[in-house]
Amino acid sequence: MEKLVSIWSKDQQYLPENYIFPPETRPGKSIIPLCTTIPVIDLSKASDQNRSNTIQQILKASKEFGFFQVIKHEVPPKLINDTMDVFKEFFDMPAEDKVSFYSENPSKTCKLYTSSLSYDREEIHLWRDNLRHPCHPLEECMKLWPEKPTRYREVVGAYSNEAKKLGSIILELIAEGLGLESGYFRNQLSESLLLSINHYPPCPNPSLTLGLVKHRDPNLITILLQGDVCGLQVLKDGEWIGVEPLPNAFVINIGYILQVISNNKLKSVEHRAVTNSKEARTSAALFINPANDCVIEPTKTLTEASNPPIYRAFQYQEFLMDYISNPTRRNQ
Ligand code: OGA
Ligand code: NI
Repeated sequence: MEKLVSIWSKDQQYLPENYIFPPETRPGKSIIPLCTTIPVIDLSKASDQNRSNTIQQILKASKEFGFFQVIKHEVPPKLINDTMDVFKEFFDMPAEDKVSFYSENPSKTCKLYTSSLSYDREEIHLWRDNLRHPCHPLEECMKLWPEKPTRYREVVGAYSNEAKKLGSIILELIAEGLGLESGYFRNQLSESLLLSINHYPPCPNPSLTLGLVKHRDPNLITILLQGDVCGLQVLKDGEWIGVEPLPNAFVINIGYILQVISNNKLKSVEHRAVTNSKEARTSAALFINPANDCVIEPTKTLTEASNPPIYRAFQYQEFLMDYISNPTRRNQ
């Protein structure tokens, strides 16, 4: 538990050596442009005659950036605010209220840990603490969630329902855009939901360290609430660009599994999180994942003799094992 960055870093003036990344992977001092080219898509237009236009925007963004933001969705702004507040309150609680969740055991369902699940094996640690737990089936999962702050279960339960609905809407638009049948993803492919809450405390030297190393998300899609503090960066044509925090927006990104299913039509793009010296940053990612025994392969509709499958079929859990054990690709 003493390993948590939020526990020991408060009055820390220097970055400890085991948080210093090599020059080629550290963020450095260069100013990263806050990018307004990552498309911002108005989802209120998806329900009327502009539906096909919205779908085209989503597909274009998913091919070019692997990322887009959505605004005017149906998740109430108050719920978004309450959820962010509850997450911040959780990390602000005294250590004794959090200790029962602290675990370095990857198979513990609801756990609080720091850096990555390979803490003991990694040379350099990440400047982040993380709380993660599954959200589906909700009633069952909720029993394992924190009871402090007192509104955690109520607020995060409502939030995960809404974020799940938003995910289904987006997956349906993507299915339509790819020419797949309605409900294509509404099954085992999107059955498992994992909420991963990152807390990046203020850092004495953000140019030397990272909150999250460059990675692709190992899932179908991610619905990310990034709050109002900058930190998320996306790799585009070999350059890092910052994703601008927009009020009440969600950042959506294509996961590796959707890249496989679409046979590379949609791109799962590398991204990372940087820290800052002024304020803590909290972000919450809802990972929409296939069930463990689900078989993943490029969908037949999108392959043909002239466009053969780029990936062989694999079981999701088989892929995850490999992903977790490969430190350059992991994000656990
Ligand atoms: C992630 C992720 C980005 C962020 O959790 O996979 O990329 O801004 N998070 O915290
Ligand atoms: Ni990610």
